[in-house]
Amino acid sequence: MAKVTLSTLLEMKRSGEKFTCLTAYDSTHAHIVSSQGVDVILVGDSLGNVCQGQTSTVPVTVDDMCYHTRNVSMKAGDAMVMSDLPFASYTNEQQALTNSTRLMQAGAEMVKLEGEAWLVPIVSRLREQGIPSCVHLGLTPQSVHVLGGYKVQGRDQARANAMIEASIALEKAGAAMLLLECVPSALAREITRAVQIPVIGIGAGADTDGQVLVIYDMLDMTPGRKPKFVKNFMAASEGSVQQAVAAYVKEVKDGTFPGPEHGFE
Ligand code: KIV
Repeated sequence: MAKVTLSTLLEMKRSGEKFTCLTAYDSTHAHIVSSQGVDVILVGDSLGNVCQGQTSTVPVTVDDMCYHTRNVSMKAGDAMVMSDLPFASYTNEQQALTNSTRLMQAGAEMVKLEGEAWLVPIVSRLREQGIPSCVHLGLTPQSVHVLGGYKVQGRDQARANAMIEASIALEKAGAAMLLLECVPSALAREITRAVQIPVIGIGAGADTDGQVLVIYDMLDMTPGRKPKFVKNFMAASEGSVQQAVAAYVKEVKDGTFPGPEHGFE
């Protein structure tokens, strides 16, 4: 596999080939994920939940993200490395630039921020400085205390319209990618068609350009109830993490995953 860049993902969108993304938080998982052909590794602030044992991503700091980004980037191989800007680390353009610079210097090749239209000037400033950004819309876990829980977003027409308009405005401002979490599949399809940039989905149906899951969820290592959008890829993989990741890549590429049972109406 050649090094995955933004051009690779844009070409995949144009040609209709689905791309894959999984989270990783350390070099061992980064190596496994990359060697099985995953296109993008997300150093997600979900590390707050799955590595630190927190109940949300709110306590995660920029220092935490830099530490994990550095470890992942050591063994990311040809996969693109995308890292989350954590809670309240991008409240204005200067702060976003300072903290994104730290993530990029730790090995990130793209940063991810959660929000909607209010991110337009921030995304534009990052772009001017050579920092590609992915905007995470829909269920934005850093806002869990405002959203009142981990709930599907965009079921009402007003919210759906706001998300569509924000997506178009963010693309115009220079966003390199969008990520949609827990939105109705029909809305995700509409947004994916409305923009030229690649769109990744999680709990957003089968029609986004790429898919992402938290690696510990798809390996069935996360305790407690699993979100509806998760599939256990370990079940048919004879205890091999490598085989589970390879099965995920195959099923995203051939359109088997996600099935209708993993999405929302
Ligand atoms: O932090 C994370 O792992 C994420 C995914 C849920 C998309 O943002």
